[in-house]
Parts: sequence; structure tokens; C-alpha cells
Amino acid sequence: MTGATRNLGFSLAQGLARRLEPDDVVYLTGRDPGRVAESVRLLSGHRANVTGEVLDVSDREAVERFANALADRHGGVDIVFSNHYARVQPGENAAEVIDGYVAANNLGTTHVLRSFAPLIRDNGRLLVVASRAGSLRALAPALHGRFENLQTLDDVDRAVCAWRDVVRQGLAAGQAWPEWINIPSKIGQVAAVRVLAAQRRAEDTLEEAPDSALYGGLIHLGHGEPGRFRTLVPWR
Ligand SMILES: NC(=O)c1ccc[n+]([C@@H]2O[C@H](COP(=O)([O-])OP(=O)(O)OC[C@H]3O[C@@H](n4cnc5c(N)ncnc54)[C@H](OP(=O)(O)O)[C@@H]3O)[C@@H](O)[C@H]2O)c1
Repeated sequence: MTGATRNLGFSLAQGLARRLEPDDVVYLTGRDPGRVAESVRLLSGHRANVTGEVLDVSDREAVERFANALADRHGGVDIVFSNHYARVQPGENAAEVIDGYVAANNLGTTHVLRSFAPLIRDNGRLLVVASRAGSLRALAPALHGRFENLQTLDDVDRAVCAWRDVVRQGLAAGQAWPEWINIPSKIGQVAAVRVLAAQRRAEDTLEEAPDSALYGGLIHLGHGEPGRFRTLVPWR
């Protein structure tokens, strides 16, 4: 669980800690050691074992190291929630905060997908907590092409960073980008899951899903059988 020190991430970690088995381990992660320790303390005494780890998802090497450590310790992972979110406060200047925002919310998400998708066990789940703002419906049609037909997570990073650079230069409004930076950021997260889903569908001969669908989470069914992706929010 990334970004598990507050709100949704903490509640999801609590739900897992209550429902999983005593020999399961919930890794509650966050970027601040004090908040990680306090969150773990609050969840002590639940059914599953809750273990804290400091993980800043914007640090690609740290995400890789953590994934490798879990692979060594457990041989795989059953459930991953990519939930972290670096907020923007009202009144903050988008051009000034966009680098950190994209580093955590978008590049952080593709770091998690690259490192953890290969570790998901049969019947496992990999979920990116996005938003209704992650639908192309929230974006001017002229910009839809920026996030469509992307083939790799690197393509997604390039598309998102091109938007980030325009925001940093103060040119976003003139190119029809929305003022609220959450919208392109969430569309970038969803685009990343779509790319991964398409790759896995090809590799695993996963069953076809409608093109109009947005894949908010990837569910790998295993048993040597084709997996399946669940549709959570409309893409268009
Ligand atoms: N809240 C809503 O109404 C709502 C609606 C739609 C979608 N969502 C989505 O749901 C998710 C969770 O939302 P939320 O409201 O629970 O968010 P939140 O209260 O802002 O919590 C975000 C969590 O992410 C952590 N975080 C921030 N930057 C990080 C980084 N670089 N590395 C690792 N962790 C980092 C935060 O840690 P710190 O404690 O250190 O800041 C915090 O634990 C987000 O993806 C959000 O977009 C939320």
C-alpha cells in the first residue's frame, strides 16, 4: 500500500489488516518515517501483521529496491495498491509545484507499476487509485491524442512530462490544458494502467475488454487460465 499514512490509503490498509489472515503481511508505506510509525501503531492488534516501510514513490531506485526486497522475502505479492497522492494546496502556483506533483503522482505510479506488476501472484490484484477526473471526458478533445495509442510506460511518462513542461512554462491554458492539474495527472495514471493492461493482455492472451473501457485495476486470474481486467471508470 503506497501513501498509507492518511485517509484512503490508511483505511485500505486497515481493511486489509482486519480481513487478511494472521500469517499475511500488510506493508504500510509512506514517505515520512514518523507518520509511517504512527500509522503502524494505530493498526497494531489487527488480524494480519502490519509492517511499516518508508517509501517515497518518486524515488525510482527506492521503489525497485523495495520490490526486490519483497520478492526475496516472500517470492511475490498478492495485492498492490498504488494509492499515494501528493496534493496541491489551494492558491499554490501550478508552475511552481508541477515538478514534485508529477514526480510523485505520475512517475511514482509508473515506478510502482514497473517494479510490482512482475511480482503479482496468480489471483493477485494490482490497483491504481485514480479518480473520475482520470477520464478523457475531462480533457479537451484536441488533447485526447496525447494519451491514446501509447505502447509503453515510457511513452506514458513522455506524454505526462510534455504536459508538465508546458505547465512549468506557464503555457498550459493557451494549449487548452485544464487549469486543475489533477485532471491530466489522473488521465496519465489511467493511461499507464491501460498500457500495462494491454501488454499483459497480449502476453497472457487475456480476454478482450471493450475499447471504451478504462482499466482502473488489473486482476490477474492465474490458474494458467487467461486473466481478466476489470472496468472501473469510463475512459471516454
Ligand atoms: N479524497 C478524495 O476525495 C479522492 C477523490 C478521488 C480520488 N482520490 C484519490 O485517492 C487517492 C488517495 O486520496 P487521499 O484523499 O486519501 O489522499 P491524501 O489524504 O492526500 O493522502 C495521500 C497519501 O499519499 C502519501 N504521499 C504523498 N506523496 C508521496 C510520495 N512521494 N511517496 C509516497 N507517498 C506519498 C501521503 O503521505 P504524507 O502523509 O506524507 O503526505 C499520504 O499518505 C489519491 O490517488 C486521490 O487522487 C481521492
